[in-house]
Amino acid sequence: MLKAAVIGVGSMGRNHVRVYREIGDSVELVGIADKNPQAAAKIGTTFGVPYYEDYLQMLEECRPDLVSLAVPTNFHCEVGAALIERGVHVLIEKPLALTLDEGRRLIELADRHKVLLAVGHIERFNPAVRELHRRLREGMAGRIYRLHAQRLSPYPARIRDAGVVLDLATHDIDLFRYLMNEEIVRLYGETQQSINSDREDMFNGLLRFQSGVVGVLDVNWITPTKVRRLTVTGTRGMFVCDLLSQELWFYENETAPSQWDALSVLRGVTEGNTLGIRIERYEPLAAQLRDFVEAVRDQRPPTVTGRDGLETLRVALDFVCSGSEVRIINREIE
Ligand SMILES: NC(=O)c1ccc[n+]([C@@H]2O[C@H](COP(=O)([O-])OP(=O)(O)OC[C@H]3O[C@@H](n4cnc5c(N)ncnc54)[C@H](O)[C@@H]3O)[C@@H](O)[C@H]2O)c1
Repeated sequence: MLKAAVIGVGSMGRNHVRVYREIGDSVELVGIADKNPQAAAKIGTTFGVPYYEDYLQMLEECRPDLVSLAVPTNFHCEVGAALIERGVHVLIEKPLALTLDEGRRLIELADRHKVLLAVGHIERFNPAVRELHRRLREGMAGRIYRLHAQRLSPYPARIRDAGVVLDLATHDIDLFRYLMNEEIVRLYGETQQSINSDREDMFNGLLRFQSGVVGVLDVNWITPTKVRRLTVTGTRGMFVCDLLSQELWFYENETAPSQWDALSVLRGVTEGNTLGIRIERYEPLAAQLRDFVEAVRDQRPPTVTGRDGLETLRVALDFVCSGSEVRIINREIE
């Protein structure tokens, strides 16, 4: 039985606490810490787990093997480094860090101390994304032309340390890299500070992979409803994935000629069959934490490594730079 702890039990961290409890067959939740004593006490009491204001004291007394780190992004490097230096395996919530120097420092420390560093890019564990990934590998969409992600939300007042590119678009940048399994060589972003934030809260980005596949990102905090939609278009048809409801559809390109010509007027000339694909739904966070625990147990890399987190951060920071300098960026592959 591995021993787990959670540091930072705000809006995301409290879900890690709950899920460690729910998946408790190979992992035991031994402690939590939050520098806000009321938050620590509330979650500690609710879940009946020892709680601390000082995470170093928690590490000393509870001796976890692995930790979920869900403090705000500007503290990922400081607290993450302290964990790694004490030999604790760590899953850092996305994005890995605020800067490339911080991200590189975390990776270098994890290598040096031989601890596992995972990054919480949770959409890779969404069952609809898993199914989409599998079907793309099988060639169901044919040759892929384009990916399009929409991630639209109202403004979350609690996020003060990152703009919408680092906080939200990193989900889709990681997804694009996961689905295409190749790196991004060119990008251009338009960012705007529109309503609430002192950083960018509206982002539209265009990118190109090595193979020529194009990605379109439409991400903002100015929409009064939540949209999480991913579209993949290829020679054989188009996948549409609703990441919130975990639904996946495939719109086939028409191949067979129609017997009834008048129908084409109603349907549009090239519409084929539409398939709703059955998805066995589960909570992505549970799959993510299981993957982390199993990676520690089996001494294998996690599904989303520190290097994945760093490359996604590098793309996001390039977009921020492109937006502020109004410039197309040709990227070096690292
Ligand atoms: N994977 C996802 O879908 C997802 C969703 C939301 C947030 N996040 C990420 O999770 C992280 C936390 O975001 P949130 O929305 O939960 O923020 P939040 O502000 O709701 O919670 C952060 C908590 O950390 C505590 N904290 C701050 N500094 C600390 C420190 N040095 N030591 C201990 N505790 C400390 C705060 O008191 C607070 O309770 C961010 O990196 C964010 O990007 C990921």
